Amino acid sequence: MSNQFAGKTAIISGGAGGIGFALAEEFGQLGMNIVIADIDQNQLSEAQRKLQEANIPVLACALDVTNYQQWQEAVTAAQNEFGNIHMLVNNAGVGGVPGSVDDTKLETWKWVMDVNVMGVVNGTQAVAPSMKQHGQGGWIINVASMAGMNGVPYSGAYAASKAAVVSMSESWAGELKKHNIAVSALCPAFVKTRIHESLRNLQDEYQEVKDQGAAKASSSKGANKAKELVESGIPTSVLAKRVVEALQSGQTYIFTHPNFRAPIAYRSSLLDAAFADAENSPIVSHLKDDEIKML
Ligand SMILES: NC(=O)c1ccc[n+]([C@@H]2O[C@H](COP(=O)([O-])OP(=O)(O)OC[C@H]3O[C@@H](n4cnc5c(N)ncnc54)[C@H](O)[C@@H]3O)[C@@H](O)[C@H]2O)c1
Repeated sequence: MSNQFAGKTAIISGGAGGIGFALAEEFGQLGMNIVIADIDQNQLSEAQRKLQEANIPVLACALDVTNYQQWQEAVTAAQNEFGNIHMLVNNAGVGGVPGSVDDTKLETWKWVMDVNVMGVVNGTQAVAPSMKQHGQGGWIINVASMAGMNGVPYSGAYAASKAAVVSMSESWAGELKKHNIAVSALCPAFVKTRIHESLRNLQDEYQEVKDQGAAKASSSKGANKAKELVESGIPTSVLAKRVVEALQSGQTYIFTHPNFRAPIAYRSSLLDAAFADAENSPIVSHLKDDEIKML
């Protein structure tokens, strides 16, 4: 098999189900060695079996992305099995618990930020140094969301976590380009997975979140709406094909839902209007033509 992925190695967090598993299958079919790393050990064994049945070289590692040491162990195991790692997919994430700013518990914010933001930081810190060192280049795909492109009422923690993932991807794309490592932010809208059942993956230390989630599940319209939207989302196999297509054309932002163009364009128009307002301000308009010095 000859393509730019064949014979290379990918490590995919949250690779036992949903989007992560679809990417494992897709890149495996393109000839990559696949490392799936996930907190759900039962689903992990099942996913490993399916990939083996499809003749995809696979290693399965137990991993909670919030735990840096477990990341390091997964990376060492991957290198022992397959050698250099060329692709990191920071995919594991949780949907949080829908709620207003007043009634979202601080513990819920912490859980969502720990998994969705620090999980991505941990993964990148564990993998990127060796990717730089082997010098063969590669890809880091951070799974953000359309929610990272615009705020989402009643999902503030989730949207903020995904905006952070977009921002980190932009920052690292600039840093790692010289190492021939392409960093992208994958920003899907709704995809048919179990993201609305993320509480199943809640770690023991966040017990308060479970209490809030259970109360919400029985009472909230928000939880039902989220379920409905996710269940009407695109299949994971379609998303996976789109990711391969976008990587080949070197996209930094990978969009899967062109129908979201108008709301995001509206946000851009608001940003532009805010600049126009500043340009007209007697207080700061003198800065208008100053040269911008970026890194
Ligand atoms: N499904 C959607 O509509 C949608 C839209 C935009 C972005 N996303 C993002 O896609 C990514 C994948 O989610 P999905 O939709 O496939 O959901 P999913 O719940 O079906 O799959 C998530 C996977 O991550 C694993 N996981 C959860 N917490 C983990 C942890 N702490 N450590 C390691 N593994 C963990 C789960 O066991 C599961 O295998 C997430 O980052 C999510 O925010 C999903």
